[in-house]
Amino acid sequence: MLEIRSLSVHIRSRRGVVHAVDDVSLTLLEGEALGIAGESGSGKTTLLRAVLGLLPRSAHVVHGEIIFEGVDLLAVSAKQAREVRGKRIGMVFQDPMTALNPVMPVGDQVSEGPRYRLGQSADESRRTAMKLLTEIGIPDPARRYRAYAHQLSGGMRQRIDIAIALSCRPHLLLCDEPTTALDVTIQDQILRLLKRLSAESGLGMLYVTHDLAVIAQTCPTVAVMYAGQVVERGPVAEVFSRPRHPYTRGLLASVPDVHRIGSALEPIQGTPPDLHSPPSGCRFHPRCPLAQVDCLDGDFPLLSTADDRATACIHSERMATTPLLSTGL
Ligand SMILES: Nc1ncnc2c1ncn2[C@@H]1O[C@H](COP(=O)(O)OP(=O)(O)OP(=O)(O)O)[C@@H](O)[C@H]1O
Ligand SMILES: [Mg+2]
Repeated sequence: MLEIRSLSVHIRSRRGVVHAVDDVSLTLLEGEALGIAGESGSGKTTLLRAVLGLLPRSAHVVHGEIIFEGVDLLAVSAKQAREVRGKRIGMVFQDPMTALNPVMPVGDQVSEGPRYRLGQSADESRRTAMKLLTEIGIPDPARRYRAYAHQLSGGMRQRIDIAIALSCRPHLLLCDEPTTALDVTIQDQILRLLKRLSAESGLGMLYVTHDLAVIAQTCPTVAVMYAGQVVERGPVAEVFSRPRHPYTRGLLASVPDVHRIGSALEPIQGTPPDLHSPPSGCRFHPRCPLAQVDCLDGDFPLLSTADDRATACIHSERMATTPLLSTGL
């Protein structure tokens, strides 16, 4: 359904060029949900925005292909790409307040797509919207239909945003932290709905979140990003129980676990690199407990193994015997 090949995105800033996404390749099958994890600034939002063709003006794709249902979105005309994206790709943004129109009742924003893009009648599109509002867990949907964005709570706006993204029955849904603002029961309800849609109608999903538990619950496959690159990918249960990249292991060790209340968390040492001038070699080497001299330069592509996993680390066999803290250099 979606194949991203060697995608690199640069963003111009006052201090130079940010290498926000660097040589990322990912494949998504129909009905598959791929979780994307990684610290703040690792390029997750930039990656999704590139797929959607909504990069900031200062950003541009320097290299790569984004093939969606057989069409390379970067190679066709802007008009063609917009058409494909508008009809078949939905997106839930990180910040719901900026996504909603402040002067239009939220229900009309949900029915707009079905009305004008799917060609439904006014009544029909209203019913579609009401159904979505109900499914997404909006209490008293008939009243909320007429409300404006500022009259709703953050969690409610987030759900409206999800309803809009789903309203044209997209084939692919791009989610950027869609449930961070929601309480756990609502979050659970939405994750179930998304899972059901991918099972029943083949909806494909790229699901970005900091919350590894949400990925474990929602996505069969996970890709971990670090400093603009994918450093590990594989079936979520295996990656989370036996990570093969030290960054993934560090990420997992820094998550609070209710089963270990009171036990110390082990944050990853140091800070993510400045992407104006990322470290040479493996970008994680300055923070890595496994690092050796051969990590300092060269390329570190994501290498797949027969068991459907991939890692960019060349020393992963030493993970079991190396403590998390202290760097190897
Ligand atoms: N408009 C911009 N101008 C300059 N740099 C930017 C811009 N947008 C993003 N960046 C930089 O690009 C890199 C990737 O940012 P991005 O927002 O994609 O990360 P992210 O993984 O989504 O982070 P978060 O988890 O905080 O949302 C970061 O180094 C960020 O500082
Ligand atoms: Mg982001």
